[in-house]
Amino acid sequence: MIERTLLSETEIGTRLDELAKEIDERYAGQEILAVGILKGSVFFLTDLLKRLKTPVAVDFLQVRSYSGTSSTGNIQMVHDLSTDIEGRHVLLFEDVVDTGLTLRKILELFSSRHPASLRIAALLKKDIPENRDLSLDFVGFTIGPEFVIGYGLDLDEKYRNLPYVAVWRPEK
Ligand code: IMP
Repeated sequence: MIERTLLSETEIGTRLDELAKEIDERYAGQEILAVGILKGSVFFLTDLLKRLKTPVAVDFLQVRSYSGTSSTGNIQMVHDLSTDIEGRHVLLFEDVVDTGLTLRKILELFSSRHPASLRIAALLKKDIPENRDLSLDFVGFTIGPEFVIGYGLDLDEKYRNLPYVAVWRPEK
């Protein structure tokens, strides 16, 4: 079901080194609360945090928005944070920003909880009009509109454990 490899393990690793440096510079003298959006961001979050020098605490939340390869447009909180984010420097980790619906909803909710700062790290951003107004602080790669799998990204819970990102080829 793989059409082609889009990002190799080595390419991802090299980009994570660069992102970690950028993040360390941005948060100099501060402590980060890294928040992973389950489940897709887990691979990205753990690999990136291992490269950081900045002190970091970790929490997760889970929302449900997708079924198959298309957005349902409906976002539901499945599992909320166990940490109070008020006064914390929150860095949200997202695997891929597609329409941006998920992030917009989470940003709205988190802003009402008064963090000291709220930033976004996305491994992938799809280059589509729907998400252009969203400002992302740290982006791994900008990709096309294709559906991708691997390195945390799934299709109905499959393929997450591929160590690279690939373009998924729909069955003809
Ligand atoms: P958005 O709300 O449309 O930005 O979609 C964000 C979420 O949809 C991501 O966190 C993924 O879980 C899922 N998603 C969007 N595009 C893809 C894709 O190409 N492959 C796998 N999951 C995707």
